[in-house]
Amino acid sequence: MRNTLLIFSFLAITFGCKNTVENNAPDEITLTEHVDLQQLTDSIQIKKLQVGSEGSKEKNLFHASFAKTFYSFVNENEENFVQSYLNEFKEATKDINANAPSGIDFVQHFEIIDKNTRFLSFLIERNTSLGNNYNHQYFTHVYDVKNEKLIVFSDLFPRENFKKIVNTIQAKAEKNIKEKISQNLTEKDKKVMWENNIETFQQGTVANDENYNAFSWDESGNLKIYFNKYQISSGDLGALEVTLSPDEYSDLLSPDYQSLLHIQPKKEEYETEQTTITQVLPTDDIDCGEVPCVALTFDDGPSNYTPQLLDILKENEAKATFFVLGKSAKIQQNTIQRIHAEGHQIGNHSWDHKDLKKLSRSGIEHQIFDTNKVIKDITGVEPTILRPPYGSYNDLVKSTAKLPIILWDLDPLDWKDRNSKTVAERMSKGKPNGILLAHDIHKSTVDAMPTVIKNLKAKGYHLVTIDQLFSGKTLKSGQVYNQRK
Ligand code: NI
Repeated sequence: MRNTLLIFSFLAITFGCKNTVENNAPDEITLTEHVDLQQLTDSIQIKKLQVGSEGSKEKNLFHASFAKTFYSFVNENEENFVQSYLNEFKEATKDINANAPSGIDFVQHFEIIDKNTRFLSFLIERNTSLGNNYNHQYFTHVYDVKNEKLIVFSDLFPRENFKKIVNTIQAKAEKNIKEKISQNLTEKDKKVMWENNIETFQQGTVANDENYNAFSWDESGNLKIYFNKYQISSGDLGALEVTLSPDEYSDLLSPDYQSLLHIQPKKEEYETEQTTITQVLPTDDIDCGEVPCVALTFDDGPSNYTPQLLDILKENEAKATFFVLGKSAKIQQNTIQRIHAEGHQIGNHSWDHKDLKKLSRSGIEHQIFDTNKVIKDITGVEPTILRPPYGSYNDLVKSTAKLPIILWDLDPLDWKDRNSKTVAERMSKGKPNGILLAHDIHKSTVDAMPTVIKNLKAKGYHLVTIDQLFSGKTLKSGQVYNQRK
């Protein structure tokens, strides 16, 4: 998922050619700062800071776009980063001769390299023109939003491995430079050129974070390192990039950052326990043992309102669990498919909402197993959790169903009070590690969800599925759970 913002590059080109002569008062430069906001993704806005504008008589221009996110520590760092660039700009405007034919252009834009629940990564590009010379730089900002930490390149590798990865990068960079050195030269001249370059190269590639502050990666884990113009070679060779494939560096990477770079962890052997135990593994980066989580659960669907609810969950980047009825699932297969495809969990809520406590073994078997089969036929995945209707169960239900029983710790009584404001207020009181009960067969409940999600997220809670809520723990068949303990 890459969102490139090239908006300001064009402005930079336009103004680079400006050729008017202003009055000769170099210290009288007015700086009109203008800030603008624009939505980039659901969770990230583009903030723009502009000094000078097209059509104004100011010939020195500063345009910076940077990210505004949910995380104040990220915003603070991005603001400071822009501020330091603005300070450089202001310094530069003091020095420029008012009769200079062209002004100063400072342009910064950014793109999202990658984002998930643990990491948020930006690649920032700056084009700086001081009238006669021009510089192009990249910077990478990787935020560990879970631990509120800015990650630098050397953090990705254990100390002894950082040197090793730098050696690999150096070897590749040297090869790139030698290839770039003019082919028309004699072997002897090429050698001389390289030798002249060695000192710059060594300084520019030595193992420190300043030299490796610009990198990006793709979904397949190909890692790209950017070297600025003049950093590792004379300027006429321009900027250089080195790309490493996962097998060239993944062994050196800290396990903690495998997920950042899309490197699959080496397969671990899981202890095989008795078949009655459901092994629950984390489904993505959220570890609810580390961060506050709340599980939203919706019973009795799918219904006509479920697609609307799925839209809301998607817009708000929240996951939920749907305890569906087999009877309804069979009729609304598309909705079941969509629930599954969008990363939500599907649990078993019986075939047609009978009180399981009042049924015989074969009655219970029909209610549970036929429901599981319908869902498996539609999604390919068989539900591993049960919520008995009315939260009603006995030993026969437990031993027949052979599934963990998932209840709740907060019931907003949304079936009784069909008022979205009331439901929103009650559900917003969800506690960390908790399981919220709701019903996606009521329009008032679905209408309450944007507010509920907003309020819970404002408290810093992650909205997760039941499997995610219990990540790292085991859910045992026949056991009853109403929160993560
Ligand atoms: Ni129910």
